[in-house]
Amino acid sequence: MCGIVAYIGPREAYPVILKGLKRLEYRGYDSSGVALLNDELRVYKKKGKVAELEDSLVGKDLHAHAGMGHTRWATHGEPNDRNAHPHSSASGRLAMIHNGIIENYTQLKQELMRKGYVFKSDTDTEVLLNFIEDIQQNNQCGLEEAVRIALKRVVGAYVIVLLDRDTPDTLIAARKGSPLVIGIGKGEHFLASDASPIIEYTKEVVYVNDYELAILKSDELILKNLGNDKITPFIQKLDMEMAAIEKGGYEHFMLKEIFEQPATIFDCLRGRLDVVKGTITMAGIQQHIEKLSTAKRIIMIGCGTSWHAGLVAEYVFEELCRIPVEVEYASEFRYRNPVVHPGDVIIAISQSGETADTIVAIEKAKENGAFILGVVNVVGSSIARISNAGAYTHAGPEIGVASTKAFTAQLAVLTMIALKIAKERGSIDTTRYMHLLNELHSVPEKVKEVLKLNGAIQKLAEKYKEAKDALYLGRGYNFAVALEGALKLKEISYIHAEGYPAAEMKHGPIALVDEALPVVFVATRDSYHEKIVSNIQEVKARKGKIVAVISEGDTIIESMADDCMVIPEADELIAPMLSVIPLQLLAYYSGVAKGYDVDKPRNLAKSVTVE
Ligand code: M6R
Repeated sequence: MCGIVAYIGPREAYPVILKGLKRLEYRGYDSSGVALLNDELRVYKKKGKVAELEDSLVGKDLHAHAGMGHTRWATHGEPNDRNAHPHSSASGRLAMIHNGIIENYTQLKQELMRKGYVFKSDTDTEVLLNFIEDIQQNNQCGLEEAVRIALKRVVGAYVIVLLDRDTPDTLIAARKGSPLVIGIGKGEHFLASDASPIIEYTKEVVYVNDYELAILKSDELILKNLGNDKITPFIQKLDMEMAAIEKGGYEHFMLKEIFEQPATIFDCLRGRLDVVKGTITMAGIQQHIEKLSTAKRIIMIGCGTSWHAGLVAEYVFEELCRIPVEVEYASEFRYRNPVVHPGDVIIAISQSGETADTIVAIEKAKENGAFILGVVNVVGSSIARISNAGAYTHAGPEIGVASTKAFTAQLAVLTMIALKIAKERGSIDTTRYMHLLNELHSVPEKVKEVLKLNGAIQKLAEKYKEAKDALYLGRGYNFAVALEGALKLKEISYIHAEGYPAAEMKHGPIALVDEALPVVFVATRDSYHEKIVSNIQEVKARKGKIVAVISEGDTIIESMADDCMVIPEADELIAPMLSVIPLQLLAYYSGVAKGYDVDKPRNLAKSVTVE
């Protein structure tokens, strides 16, 4: 949510920042802006996407060796030029970019207004910036000290980066709750919300922790805590290649990421699953296997697609491990005074590892003594770091705002964890265990088969693109897939879609069924098959249009449905990793058919770092 990038060193800062902003645009695209510092501090900003900013800067003096940029997902104040970042302080000496929310900004604003400050924007950022400047003026102190004093009063989440016209050789940044990575080059430094703007220049990075302050010059990095003690930076090597953040010939990142799934699921299983030896090697799980396998209760937390992965995993864990599982929206969990006991295991699921709702839910559960297991995609992200243990999903950078490959990788990892725990508890027999290992092993090849539906699904999307609403129904393991299919369709094509357990339809949503309503059934061959066939009959009797994801050879549903997407047979516990893919494609092509920017759907951001 909001992307930030900054540079200091011998290069021209603007091209580095502009390229970085384009890579971070998935984090928000309401407006963008840059601040460039040489002898003077120049701030340029514009409503809309980065390309609009770029066009508006043609012919401007952009020469600078220090600078920063911001791409915004609006929180305080509507998306317009005025509210775009960077913001300038009252004196014009300081400029600042911010990712996060300052919760006590109203109080700080009132204090400053009483002192005569006038604000040019509606943002919390401008308030914090002037608060810092005010402290500096009153205390006659340097910027670094003023930032430290200010942040002790701030309630909320932030990454801030400041430029001071009077010290053009220094960038100051601080973090609490939002991500910040420093790239260390030779005589130069980069700052960004994630590693994608940095990887082209250096693979040496430092992940800044909460309550840390970074003071950067071209050839010097000083990290401090808010108490002014120096901290030794922990330098890590990035395990990422440039190709992973480029479109690689696909029209959109979303399509590329859908098509990457055979490889991402393979990468997720690689080195872990051994079907010959019958083992699953996951060091982070093995280390805590006793705690995990003796848990009285498991609570899965996440948001959006990650929450859906938790819903599938609930069925898998209860079936295999016989441990009660609850699945909670992270945002609700945090604020409803949940009953959490020491010994409870929380599985926190997140692609970005930066979702604010999930982070605060983890903090709450930790306070109550729960053990946190993170299932995260982004290496080194906040959730990965605050969890007691974890397993990465290894899906690689996911840039399309709609989550696709992260979901199937989450399912693969969660299934492996469930199998490990079940083995340890003795709640699964060897035949079933070996069967599921083999089924997991065959997923990447089966996904390749599913992807052959690409052309047919494109036509299907054309056929249904004018629908105003759609209903997605599934049962058992496919219930959460129906929810995920509906979420994908609404976020990418803006067609209103509802996901429901198929049997619940008759308790209300059936009232919506008429000849104009496409009803998408996720109805692969499983133990609920006969029941879902009846649900299809119920829709057909009311003239609803039936679109079904079915298993090969299912002539029963094939004869009933208007349109079918046929996928390979798989164990019902594994099937969601396959059945979701036609729904991802259907959403993608519906968005494309309607002419929308599927990688950057309106009002959304990839990484939701505000509560
Ligand atoms: O990074 P996370 O997995 O924590 O993100 C959670 C949701 O914000 C995310 O899944 C969102 O719902 C996606 N846009 C879904 O496609």
